[in-house]
Amino acid sequence: MDAAPLTRSLVLVGFMGAGKTSAARELATLLGVPCHDADELLEAELGLAIEALFARDGEAAFREREEELVLRLLAQPPAVVALGGGALGSARVREALRAHAVVLLEVEPEIAWSRVAGSGRPLARDRARFDALHAERLPVYREAADGTLPRWDRNLLRRALPSLRALASGEAHGLRLLWATSASRDYPVWVGEGALHRAPWPLAVESRRLAVTDETVAGLHAGRVPGLAGMIEIPPGERHKTLATAERVWHALVRQGASRADHVVAIGGGVVGDLAGFCAATYQRGIAVVQVPTTLVAQVDSAYGGKTGVDLPEAKNYVGAYHQPAGVIVDPTTLETLPAPELAAGYAEVVKTALIAGGPLWSRIGAGEPVDQRAILDCARTKLAVVAADERDDGLRQVLNLGHTIGHAIETVTGYARLRHGEAVGLGLLATLRLSGRDDLREQVRDLLARAGLPVSIDGIEPAAVLEATRRDKKRTLGDVPFVLCQAPGDVRHGARVGDEDVLAAISELTA
Ligand SMILES: NC(=O)c1ccc[n+]([C@@H]2O[C@H](COP(=O)([O-])OP(=O)(O)OC[C@H]3O[C@@H](n4cnc5c(N)ncnc54)[C@H](O)[C@@H]3O)[C@@H](O)[C@H]2O)c1
Repeated sequence: MDAAPLTRSLVLVGFMGAGKTSAARELATLLGVPCHDADELLEAELGLAIEALFARDGEAAFREREEELVLRLLAQPPAVVALGGGALGSARVREALRAHAVVLLEVEPEIAWSRVAGSGRPLARDRARFDALHAERLPVYREAADGTLPRWDRNLLRRALPSLRALASGEAHGLRLLWATSASRDYPVWVGEGALHRAPWPLAVESRRLAVTDETVAGLHAGRVPGLAGMIEIPPGERHKTLATAERVWHALVRQGASRADHVVAIGGGVVGDLAGFCAATYQRGIAVVQVPTTLVAQVDSAYGGKTGVDLPEAKNYVGAYHQPAGVIVDPTTLETLPAPELAAGYAEVVKTALIAGGPLWSRIGAGEPVDQRAILDCARTKLAVVAADERDDGLRQVLNLGHTIGHAIETVTGYARLRHGEAVGLGLLATLRLSGRDDLREQVRDLLARAGLPVSIDGIEPAAVLEATRRDKKRTLGDVPFVLCQAPGDVRHGARVGDEDVLAAISELTA
């Protein structure tokens, strides 16, 4: 990416204790522009610490002075600006921010508290109030943010710099950026209308872009991705997520002279993403892959987190590798050509993710709101947060398999031919909510799935065969298969032991 000049300010927002002041200084140095810290400037202008102003005149007076100063700062030439945690409470500030690149610096409440408790800040004296304020403000920050960094340190800022610059130079105007982190690599996720041809490309121009797509997506969207040096097409559908297809792709990469300096661009649904990612992970022991998801399943789930692989006849996703993408480019307009049953299948993954996330995402999805770009972004955030904490499925990441142990088993016994992955996940969710003892939630989810046109029962399967297939689940270590259960939206736990009888009953109920 070229170092284009900033045409608007890069404004850091986020909760107290996120480190906005230090991150802003670092970023301003890297970008070679001035740095303004609203809190510091306010204290200098007032000749008074913020705590003292709060104590003397109250919060309302402070907010008034803060708003006036922030509006002045936002009218200045491009700079890096750090705002106080409450500045977005002002509608005038939120309006003024629309002309700038707003970057949310996220922070876990525990970490924020450990940094600011005892600092004398007026809003950091009571832990319960602090957490409530965090929960209240987070959706406001997210709504305003063009970009989100899950945390920061000097190296992370350096790696994210080209993407942040693209936000503030206008190159990526209108797109949203989530910065994904994991133990092995971090990368930009670009989301928005037109991202397919407009998103800043995550790899250098010298690296050739070799597309892997399926025959359906090839004719619809693959050609919209700029700068492709080659295109490898595979037949569409889960039936083709096999080693034989992977071998065809490897040979095609050889024919196209692909080297480790080049990269694969996976354009399609989860099948293409998983298979092309696997080919990239293994070709010459690993070349980079950029994921360009074009189904709802892929945009809310499979494109993130680096799980790649193929199915074996015996079990799903049984051969694969962890291989984080170099970037993910999500253009929700590609969904306009997606057939309704495929959209519905993606909806099951949205419901699953909303159950894991709880909070505002579940409130909206649980209430039956349609899936829009905001929902896609929130699903991506949820998955990225889990992967950031546990890239290799050693613990927390297993929560992402909510509904999958039984869902995968149903796919296996039906030969991967009868149900879409998302449809099977929907059935798996229903069985899992029964195993979780949340009959009320099961009914609510059943209604959501049924209204989306998804199956809520299945005939012609043998419950005992499904139970048997769960025993081949990859999460099984010794003895029982561990289940992921949902106590409540936002409270999903992995590693639960469930008796065979209960599992059989929950599966049998699906066949009733
Ligand atoms: N890696 C992960 O973390 C992860 C997570 C969830 C699911 N998955 C995998 O994802 C796969 C399912 O993905 P999927 O549901 O996207 O299936 P898919 O890739 O088979 O796509 C479904 C169908 O939609 C077509 N299609 C794709 N984009 C289109 C578009 N924009 N317009 C019209 N048609 C389009 C495809 O050609 C295909 O026929 C499964 O193999 C599952 O195991 C992986």
